[in-house]
Amino acid sequence: MCGIVGYAGGREAQQILLDCLKRLEYRGYDSSGIAVVGADLQLFKSKGEIAVLESSMPVMKGSFGIAHTRWATQGKPTTENAHPLADCSNRFAVVHNGIISNFMDLRESLQKDGHTFSSETDTEVFSHLVESEYKGDLLEAVRNALKRVDGTYAFAVVTHGKDEVVAARNESPLVIGLGDGENFLASDVTALLKYTNLMVYMSDGEVARITKDSVTILDREGREVKREPQRISWSLDDAEKGGYPHFMLKEIFEQPNAIHESMLGRVESLESEPFFQGSPFSSVKIIACGTSYHAGLTGKYILEELSRTPTTVQISSEYRYSTASRENPLVVLVTQSGETLDTMAAAREARKRGHRTVGIANVMGSAITREVDHVIYTRAGPEIGVAATKTFVTQLVAMYLLGMDLGMQTKAMSAQGKRSMIGQLRNLPRAVQDVLNQADEIEALAKKYSSAKDMFFIGRNINYPIALEGALKTKEISYIHGEGFPAGELKHGPLALLSKDSPVVAVAVKDHTYEKMLGNISEVSARGSPVIAIGFEGDTELAKYADDVIYIREIPPLFSPVPVIVVLQLLAYYLARERGCPIDKPKNIAKTVTVE
Ligand code: AGP
Repeated sequence: MCGIVGYAGGREAQQILLDCLKRLEYRGYDSSGIAVVGADLQLFKSKGEIAVLESSMPVMKGSFGIAHTRWATQGKPTTENAHPLADCSNRFAVVHNGIISNFMDLRESLQKDGHTFSSETDTEVFSHLVESEYKGDLLEAVRNALKRVDGTYAFAVVTHGKDEVVAARNESPLVIGLGDGENFLASDVTALLKYTNLMVYMSDGEVARITKDSVTILDREGREVKREPQRISWSLDDAEKGGYPHFMLKEIFEQPNAIHESMLGRVESLESEPFFQGSPFSSVKIIACGTSYHAGLTGKYILEELSRTPTTVQISSEYRYSTASRENPLVVLVTQSGETLDTMAAAREARKRGHRTVGIANVMGSAITREVDHVIYTRAGPEIGVAATKTFVTQLVAMYLLGMDLGMQTKAMSAQGKRSMIGQLRNLPRAVQDVLNQADEIEALAKKYSSAKDMFFIGRNINYPIALEGALKTKEISYIHGEGFPAGELKHGPLALLSKDSPVVAVAVKDHTYEKMLGNISEVSARGSPVIAIGFEGDTELAKYADDVIYIREIPPLFSPVPVIVVLQLLAYYLARERGCPIDKPKNIAKTVTVE
């Protein structure tokens, strides 16, 4: 949930660390801190956003250091609890992402040995453990300290007198950036893109020593690991706002291109290079959280339609409680970050149960990609806004590709069907562009409804999960209470909540659900709630039922979730903007959720 950066090099570390840290602010932003090693170990922390740290910190001289932006999980968001955390003698500074689950026991035993604590955090035990294990070699001290730690972590440690940063990873992302006469460390590649695009991803159980000229990685047993660096194709521009007021808006507008990138070179080669050849599975189970779960729910309709393969969808954190069935499903784990701990745990459980696994991820080299048998990258580029937008739409593209792949294998899809699918997929960027061209109209609607306290989203069939996703986007960034329902469920309870102050967004594209959707819209209108409908261009009927209508290009209903969700993303965005919300960094939530 937090962001870590480290620097080992020939330049002054302070500004570089701060610069990299700012790119991670979306991971956590209740406090931050920096430690620089020069003639001595200098440490400065503050409560609040990184801007507060920047404006209050003294000049710190030295070319090695670590920094951290925090989203509190253990201990309140205060300056004392901000990272880096030091030991009793202020010789060791530690930054940490994750949770040390046995920290209470460790704290007690360290206190008995005479250590004094200055924060409420679990992290601080680690600085004291390193202090007590240190015999002149920082990496060895970290390795020995780790032997006493249970939990999840990405650690970075510096000490006075050593020109190095030592890092350790277990279930929390860490990547080493390779430079010329300098090396970097971060919890996320986007932090480092200004300085390098040559990355080495650390794996669980590894410890690394990073100096200005060398990187040494050791595995759990202390053996040296040789790993080829990967060149990341994302540019700095990809990770910056490019003139948009918010990353979220930029990312919404990048969607036509993201869809295009996601398909590039794939649709044509599916037949010659299927994802899964001769696969011994009779069903699919999709597992994910949040927006990725909604992509999974939408994927169920797509996979069943295209391949006739029975598909179930489960929330990652619930998978472990399910009973292993006699079925042997193909397990598809969807996670844009590739680091969501609940989804990682589900991937491990699926493997333990002997299932074949596929990951749908956006971040190259992320944890999930090393946990599964096969990866489908969504190629959306870096997504910085906490609200998932372009990663969701490209997850849907991955579902279409997977559906086609399975459909060809199960023979549910003919050659003619495949040609038509490819044509429809290629039309998607245009359908999305049409929606983007209506941004002003959607903004006007958002202004009209921005004082709503509750908003309801309804749809049927494949647009039911899109209603759920529209509601999630709305509550996440505008703080309006949003709920999504299958439209047919309204009369089984939710109708009781309707009033003139609770607008209802209804997805009513012309498919086999259309007539029923008109009925639901009438039900809603009769209770006095205003209705915003989303329908196909040329549908003159819909305007007679709804108060406002947004039109999308007429496309086969199976593909309608893509332009429909773009309407709902824009609506949520403009509602949030109108209400003055911190759109890219909504309160209480973080981009990458690496705690269970
Ligand atoms: C999306 O807008 C949310 N921020 C959140 O629900 C997110 O989709 C969820 O945490 C899963 O993340 P992942 O795709 O990185 O696994």
